[in-house]
Order: sequence, then structure tokens, then C-alpha cells
Amino acid sequence: LKDMEKEEGQEPHPHVVILPIPAQGHVKPMLKLAELLSHSSCRVTFINTEYVHTTFLSSVDIHAFSRRFPKFRFVSIPDGLPPDSPRSGKGIFDVLFSLRDTAKAALLEVLVSLRQPPTCIIADGIMCCAAIEAGEEFGVPVLAFRTYSACCTWTYFHLSMLLQEGEVPLQDKDMDQLVTCISGLENVLRRRDLPSICRIDRVDDPLYTFFITQALAMRRASALILNTFEELEAPILFKLGSIFSKIYTIGPLHVLSNVRIKDDNLTTLASTKSIRWQEDKGCITWLDSHPPKSVVFVSFGSLVTFTCEQMLEFWHGLVNSGKPFLWVIRSDSIVGDDDPRTTLIDLEELAKDKGLIVSWAPQEKVLAHSAVGAFLTHSGWNSTLESIYAGVPMICWPAWGDQQVNSRCVSDVWRVGFDMKDGCHRSIVEKMVRDLMNDKREEIMKSMEVLSRTAQQSVKEGGSSYFNLEKLIEYIKSIHL
Ligand code: UDX
Repeated sequence: LKDMEKEEGQEPHPHVVILPIPAQGHVKPMLKLAELLSHSSCRVTFINTEYVHTTFLSSVDIHAFSRRFPKFRFVSIPDGLPPDSPRSGKGIFDVLFSLRDTAKAALLEVLVSLRQPPTCIIADGIMCCAAIEAGEEFGVPVLAFRTYSACCTWTYFHLSMLLQEGEVPLQDKDMDQLVTCISGLENVLRRRDLPSICRIDRVDDPLYTFFITQALAMRRASALILNTFEELEAPILFKLGSIFSKIYTIGPLHVLSNVRIKDDNLTTLASTKSIRWQEDKGCITWLDSHPPKSVVFVSFGSLVTFTCEQMLEFWHGLVNSGKPFLWVIRSDSIVGDDDPRTTLIDLEELAKDKGLIVSWAPQEKVLAHSAVGAFLTHSGWNSTLESIYAGVPMICWPAWGDQQVNSRCVSDVWRVGFDMKDGCHRSIVEKMVRDLMNDKREEIMKSMEVLSRTAQQSVKEGGSSYFNLEKLIEYIKSIHL
């Protein structure tokens, strides 16, 4: 095919195979990149698990999408779990463990079946071992796309050292002590800011082995792609340069995609769809009826769960602050022994004149809305970038994964919000909302405005992320030639 294209005088199209883990926060940015590559005349084969493939593609207008991206194909692989196995919340770890054992064979099967041989694989850095091994066996380079921040990616590379030095597990240690052995972050991370995995007491827990093995495999990737921008994390990107000779920072991807694809009808993009939930568009009309910067947007992403007790603390804190709020509570958000439906129905009833509860919101549009003044978030990396880009200051309630690191950077490095880590008492919620919306707003907004402007610059023509995407495409084309 490549030779035919050359004979016909066409520029040959590289074929990129993309493999995210099946979670909203990973599929979305990798799909944004996939659409951008397809827009730049690459062929793309995007692999979802069967579970995501079925639920997700039902919300995509596949005919409109295929007209827009004729060289783009979605395929699926099994995740190896029984159909009724829980895949959300902590169930995502069962999916990861299962894919660790099954994804290599499934990926090789896809690679063999492709009509045009792949140029490279872009694999999710959180679980790239299978792809690296498959790529080595098949003879194609693998690029790792870590959907985390550079700071957190760098921290994960130190997990093994943290264990060796006895810094981790964290049990019974002073959680406010700075962790001084991660070069470049000596004055940033306290023990409580380390990725949540470090809170697991047993050193032989399979999660430690999982993340250490994946980080080791990731070092064999031919390049690292990050959804961040150079100006935000320059010193740590420099450190990551000691592991990767090629690093492409192309964030915030949700905007770079809009800038580059310039599609009047963004709804044809598959990456604007949720992999599971139906968006409640009515919440935008509700926001329209509120004055500028008056509403607190509350959303904890696609995986984080909370108990009824925690939900009530948030509820009282928000109500006592006197600020209206828009709160996303997914159907699977609430866990624990109490019947979540009863509590939720009560809250929805009580919320009527104080706030609005929805099960999934068009988050990017919500953050861009003039009525939104603050974001109470779990500090998922996509949410953090979306908030920075929109210039909305944050109150962070990190739950797990990379979120502990992100919230620390938000509050103590970039100073664009407050960190409510490890507690959500109603009095703290109330105080942080009041501080962010009134008493300390000016100070926080000063840094937020600078950061937000820098993020906006980075995705414009001539900006760092815009330029890095060009370099990435050039690199992929150079593998193909
Ligand atoms: C997960 C991890 O938890 C996160 O820390 C990691 O960085 C990526 O993978 P998730 O928890 O879902 O992701 O959080 P986040 O990264 O913020 O991604 C959620 C995405 O869903 C965001 O892009 C957000 O815009 C979108 N979203 C969320 C909606 O569109 N509507 C909603 O109501 C809630």
C-alpha cells in the first residue's frame, strides 16, 4: 500500500494504532489525539474494550464521523472479564489486571489483521507493558501516552525507590513530612501528596508490582506523549528528559483539538461523547439564569465514588456557604451501606432552590460558562487542565491515583486553588467555598489569570503545544517513510 501511494505520487499515510485503558479520563484525551492524527492524514485504528465499544459507539453518529474521518476505524478487544463484572469505581483495577494478562495476545491479533501494516502503536502509559511487548514482537515502535501530569508521571517512576528507602508504605508515618527523595519535587510533595497507591500497607500488594512493572516497561517506549503544556511543568519535563529522548507535550488537548480541527459541528467528534453517560444539557439553561461567577460547579469525574456521609458533608457545606451549585452525581457515584437512592432523592428535593444535581454534565461547556465561579473537583488530570484553561479556580478533594499529586500542585505550586485532601467536613467545605468565591478570590485569580492565558497561548498557532503536535506528526511520518 505504501509503495502504491508513492507511485501515485501521494504522501504515504502512516497507520497509527491507539490503545487506551477503558476509562473516560483515558479514552477521551487519547481519542482527541487520534482525531487530530486522522485530521493530519494518518490512518488510525482505535482499540476499545468490547464493553466500552458497545456503550460508547451507540452515542456516536458513526456515519457523520466516518465522513469526517474516512481513515479512522474503531475496533474492539475483550477485557477478559465476565459480562456482569463491575468495571466502574474500584472495578477498574480488575479490568487493569485482566488486561495486563490478556491485552498482548488481543493486540497482536488486531495487528496481524490490519490491511495496512501499523507504523506505530500509541499505548496508554498506565498499562503499556502489553503493547510494548506486542510492539517489540511485531517490530513496530510504541509511543507511551501518559494521561497524567508530568509531575505525577515522574513520581510513578520513583515508586520502586520509595519502597526501597522505606518511605512507602505510608502507614503510621507523619503524613505532613516532605518527601525529599524525588528529585525536582523535594519541596513540593508531602507524604500525603504521593499517589494514593502509596497508602496501601502491604508491600506485596499486586498493585505495587503492577505499577512498577508498567513504569519499567514504559521506559522502553520510543517517545512520551503528555497532555500538559511546557510552561506548566518545565522543570519536571526536563527531568523526564533523562528517561525519554523524545517528549511531546500537546495539552490542553481538549482545546488543541478544537483549534486544529476547526469543525463547526463539534458533535461529529467522537471525543466529545461520554463513554457511558447521557449529558444533561438542561444545566446550561439553568446556568444562564445565574449572575456571573456566582455558581460552584461540583464534579468528581467518571470513577470516584463517595459515601452518603461524605455526600451530606458536601451538601451542608455548599448550602451553608450560600452559593448556588451545580453538582454531578453519577448513577454509580454513591457507595456504602445506606440506600443511596433515598438520600439522593431527598437531596434533589432539598436542592430545588439552592442548586441543581445532574447525572452527567457537558463539563467543558459548564467550565466555560460565565456563571461558574469555582470548581469543586476530584483533581482528575483532565478536569484540572479544563479548569485551568477556563480560568476557574479549584477546591480539590482528591480521591485516588494521580489526584493527590495534582491537588498539591494546584494549591501549592500553581496557587490556583485550595487542597481539601483527606477530609470534607462541612465547615471546611463552607470555608473553602467562601474563601474562593469572596475573601481570598483576588489573590488566587491573579495566578489563575496568568496560568490560563499561558494555557490558551500554548495551543494557538506558534504556541508550544501546537508546535509539539506538529513535531509528533513529523516523527510518526518519519517512522513510516
Ligand atoms: C481518571 C483519573 O481518575 C484521573 O485522575 C486521571 O488523570 C485520568 O483518568 P477521571 O477520574 O474520570 O479520570 O477524571 P478526569 O481526568 O478529570 O476526566 C474526566 C473527564 O470526564 C473530563 O474530561 C470531564 O470533562 C469529563 N466529564 C466529567 C464530563 O464531561 N462530564 C461530567 O459530568 C464529568
